[in-house]
Order: sequence, then structure tokens, then C-alpha cells
Amino acid sequence: MAAALWTRVGARRATERVVGRGAPTGRPTVRATGVLQSREEWERATRNMRALRLPLHPDGSKNWDTLAAISSTLAHTSPAERVLDAGAALYSTFLPSLRLYGYTDLVGTNLEFGRRIALGGVRLEQGDIEATGFADGSFGAVVCLSVIEHGVDVRAFLTEAARIVRPGGMVFVSTDYWAGGVDTTGLVAYGTPVRIFDRAAIEGLIAIAAEVGLRLDGDATDLDCLERAVHWKRFDLRYTYVALTFRAETR
Ligand SMILES: C[S@@+](CC[C@H](N)C(=O)[O-])C[C@H]1O[C@@H](n2cnc3c(N)ncnc32)[C@H](O)[C@@H]1O
Repeated sequence: MAAALWTRVGARRATERVVGRGAPTGRPTVRATGVLQSREEWERATRNMRALRLPLHPDGSKNWDTLAAISSTLAHTSPAERVLDAGAALYSTFLPSLRLYGYTDLVGTNLEFGRRIALGGVRLEQGDIEATGFADGSFGAVVCLSVIEHGVDVRAFLTEAARIVRPGGMVFVSTDYWAGGVDTTGLVAYGTPVRIFDRAAIEGLIAIAAEVGLRLDGDATDLDCLERAVHWKRFDLRYTYVALTFRAETR
């Protein structure tokens, strides 16, 4: 499935060069920061992705944060800049989508990747989002989708993201969320305890981000939840997502 997705992206690029077709039909402009409030909202994001001719994430609800990440990246970077998907999966559609918008310097890292591979114009390599080894200020954007809830030290990640993004660049983070918290006692996924961030944890994350020079783009006070729009069937957990766009201080 992952290979098919990347082949499709590659094929689209080729088609685009030859007959001028296959490019996205427009640019998304969606909320930079906020809570996913309903199933209808992620279904709308999926329709939006389809209408734009962007590849769909295999997990429908993930089109919501993927589309928001694409929107924020397009708003704050140019296609010549380098973009990192920190904790990318082979099935992720964020970098393939940017490829379709003409971005050419795209890197995805994951603890689980083996040898470095180039797929559809994107470099995928083994890497820890807490200590990447990339040079200071070497990315226009760092995007991290549904990763920090899987055993990541939030302060270490935000410090590293702030270090490798250029001044004025963008850092986008999404994670599992429910304002009042969800009991995940005893549950383990990806080798670490399952965590669903609550309001205090997200407020803490935003405070750490400010300490390391990342300023929230949007309204931090609106962390209320309406509907448990996401269902993790494996554990029968119901919650939602929060997405946060930060801008790096121009030091
Ligand atoms: C739920 S998946 C999300 C994948 C993808 N970002 C997406 O949105 O579909 C979480 C991924 O985070 C990766 N991960 C966890 N901790 C990491 C770390 N410190 N550095 C890099 N990847 C990590 C795991 O290997 C796993 O593939």
C-alpha cells in the first residue's frame, strides 16, 4: 500500500511534467491551531483532500491533521525549503502531498526505518525526533503528526525542533487529546505506555514551546472538546486530536 502511494505520487509528478496534469487543484487553508471537534470535521478534511487531488491517509481521521499540516507548511515556507516529517510512516501522506506542490527537499525520519531510502523524491531515514543530528536552522518546517504520545520526551523534542528550524520557520505538532483525560492505565502501543494528552499536558507543552522560542500561531485558550471524533478500535479508546502550529522566533 505504501509503495503504491509513492508510485502514484511519482507517476503524478511525471504526468504533470509531460501533459501538465496531476497537480493539486488548489491550496488548503484550514485552522493552524485547534481541536478536532467532530467526525464531520475530519470527513470534511477527507473530502477536501480528495477535491485537491491529494493522497488520502489510510486512517480517515488522520486526514484532518495532515491537511492542517499541509496548510500551515504552504503558508509559512517556500517549495525550495527543506521540510522534515518527524516520525513519518511509510503510509504518511504529508510529504507526498508537499511533493505534489513542488517541494523537492523532503525528509522523513522514524526510529523504525532501516537503511536510508529515496521514495518518490523523498528521503526516508532512521532518526530519533529527540536528537536528529541535523544542522541548526536547516529546515523551513518541522512537522510531527501523532508521534509525541508514543513515549517521546516533549521537552527534548521541542528543544530539538526549535534548534533545527530556521528563524521564522514553522513547527507543527498533532497528538491524541481529550481535555478531561482518558484512562489508559496498562495499555501499551509502539513499545510504550499509551498516552492521551489532557488540557494541562497541552498547556504545559505550549509553555515549554515558548521557553525554547516557539510561539503558538492561533488561540491557545480554546482547548475545549465537543465530540470524541476518533475511535482507536484496538483499545476501544475514544478521544480526539489537537493540532498546534508554532512559529520560531526570529532571533
Ligand atoms: C502513530 S505513528 C504516526 C505515524 C505518522 N506520523 C502518521 O501520522 O501517520 C507513531 C510513529 O512514531 C514513531 N516514533 C515514536 N517515537 C519516535 C522518536 N523518538 N523518533 C522517531 N519516531 C518515533 C513510531 O515508530 C511510529 O511509527
